[in-house]
Amino acid sequence: MYGFYDLVCDITQCGIKVFDYFLGYRLPEYICGRGFISRLPQMLKDKGAGRVLVVTEKALIELGTAKKMLDPMDEAGIDYVLFTDVEQNPTSDNVEAGFKVFRENKCESVVALGGGAPMDCAKAICAKSAHPRMTTRQLHGILRVHKRVPLLFAVPTTSGTGSETTLASVITDSKTRRKASINDPVLIPKYAVLDPELTLTMPPGLTATTGMDALCHAVEAYTNHFYNTPVENIMAVRAVRLIYDNLYRAYKDGSDIDARENMQIAALYAGRAFTRGCVGYVHAIGHTLGGLYGVPHGKAMAILLPHVMRAFGPKAHRRLSELADACGITGRNDAEKAEKFISWIEDMKRLTGIPEKLDMIKDEDIEQIITWAMREANPLYPTPVLWKRSDFRRFIDSVRE
Ligand SMILES: [Fe+2]
Repeated sequence: MYGFYDLVCDITQCGIKVFDYFLGYRLPEYICGRGFISRLPQMLKDKGAGRVLVVTEKALIELGTAKKMLDPMDEAGIDYVLFTDVEQNPTSDNVEAGFKVFRENKCESVVALGGGAPMDCAKAICAKSAHPRMTTRQLHGILRVHKRVPLLFAVPTTSGTGSETTLASVITDSKTRRKASINDPVLIPKYAVLDPELTLTMPPGLTATTGMDALCHAVEAYTNHFYNTPVENIMAVRAVRLIYDNLYRAYKDGSDIDARENMQIAALYAGRAFTRGCVGYVHAIGHTLGGLYGVPHGKAMAILLPHVMRAFGPKAHRRLSELADACGITGRNDAEKAEKFISWIEDMKRLTGIPEKLDMIKDEDIEQIITWAMREANPLYPTPVLWKRSDFRRFIDSVRE
């Protein structure tokens, strides 16, 4: 039954939709192509990057992926400092440590190399540099940065997060374990290098879960649709089609450079789509699992996505059937096409070894999960159906093993 809570959410979303038109959504300036990482040093020089803080993960140093970026930087004499203490779900402690390195070394710009973790950590370091006295927790929310930040260059090595194109930096509070987002258009990276060769070392499992994250961005942004302009709708549909055609190919054969390149473009489109269109309950619940149990973001997304879409019922059928159309999935009506599209996501999960349900949720954490998920999603996310506490409880019960 429509009540006061529904009314408050509707009014807030109408306000955000109007406000959205005055926000500075933009894409980073891109260079995009095979082997283009070798062009980064010149880019850094041309843009006056000065001394650079490189934020990345230890795993990328060990895999040799970072070397592909750092060697040309060394050869070109770029002055940089390396920071690699970034956890899989980056924490406020990681941000504080990174900011300390940035400040003590008098860095002037930041290069983020990796997936969502280094990129989000790098964005939060930039936010901190604009507000050194504020804690990461105080920066959580919308438009709290609102100041000039250091030049930020993004170099993605996974094809999922889309963080190279978004205004969000998701950070886990080290004390409470709550994952929350710093959202501000100033955090959209200024420049990005998309080189599919950097994604070739991604193992199959990570290829699958990060690809499912990109799918989730596109599907949630498209089914939300209230804030979307035609740009977000087109971006979301193209991303879904590219993922439909290429995710399994990239998973089966990691050296398939065409599939890798298409997945990288899909992640970019999906990231742009949800920057305005927003994500939904898959992300709101998934973020709590990352914070509380350290579940990798993409894995949480992949597990939850088909369950949430199915739980929305008829309210999501038309938009899901349009995504099915884009993929060439046929059916007699919207409901059938929507169900076939959800079944395809479930098939992808099975084929790539992603579990069907969640096995980590403890009874004593359920109320906390609901509180955090509701705080993130309502009233901001324009989901097809507004869930209240009881809806979240019913849903979580249905997806636990
Ligand atoms: Fe995501």
